[in-house]
Amino acid sequence: MTNQMTIALTKGRIEKDTVALLKKAGFDMSFMADKGRNLIFESPDKKFRFLLVKAPDVTTYVRHGVADIGVVGKDVLIEHPMGYLEMLDLNFGLCKFTVASVPSYNPNDHKRKRIATKYPTVARDYFNKKGEDVEIISIQGSVEISPVLGLADAIVDIVETGNTLVANGLVVFEDICRISARLIANKAAIKNNPELMAFIKKIEAIVGNEEVPFK
Ligand code: PRP
Repeated sequence: MTNQMTIALTKGRIEKDTVALLKKAGFDMSFMADKGRNLIFESPDKKFRFLLVKAPDVTTYVRHGVADIGVVGKDVLIEHPMGYLEMLDLNFGLCKFTVASVPSYNPNDHKRKRIATKYPTVARDYFNKKGEDVEIISIQGSVEISPVLGLADAIVDIVETGNTLVANGLVVFEDICRISARLIANKAAIKNNPELMAFIKKIEAIVGNEEVPFK
């Protein structure tokens, strides 16, 4: 490999799962074992450089060509859909978008609902497709408390284990869609660097191209 490849990773679980995947693909990832508070890592042979960033910023680094590829959840791609190519479903980081609320919530109620969410695009699209005009209340986190406190009638949020819903007395009323980690790439990098495509093919051979369902 002649060109250095820069890979933007979503800090946290996706980063760890990606490092495990690359190990499985035969890459020596020991240079990332002792991370400390560093946010940029270069492999000893200089072939790879990893950036650890917040999820939405993965799309920004890839869109601007600072990173050639990135790994980020589909939830973030739905909210930030432009300026990159979505190449692979990595089949980890599995979870789903749901509509959840307190048990007394009535999804068939005809009054205009207030929906609290960190994902306004997902929420609006979902209710629009159902022909429902809802009021979206944007929340930055801890969305689960909003129906309990009367800020919203229901939430649109990610469910992984379901523990946060249970702990806050909420139940799932509707499943919206499956979410998983995706490999995205810069358009120009894909066009100009054949080694990048070879790398992606290698990863694809490991993850396969069959979608693992979220139960
Ligand atoms: C996410 C999501 C839920 C929780 C779901 O929040 O928004 O709150 O994880 O996980 P669970 O089903 O396994 O309980 P995050 O951890 O990103 O925190 P936040 O609410 O502060 O954004």
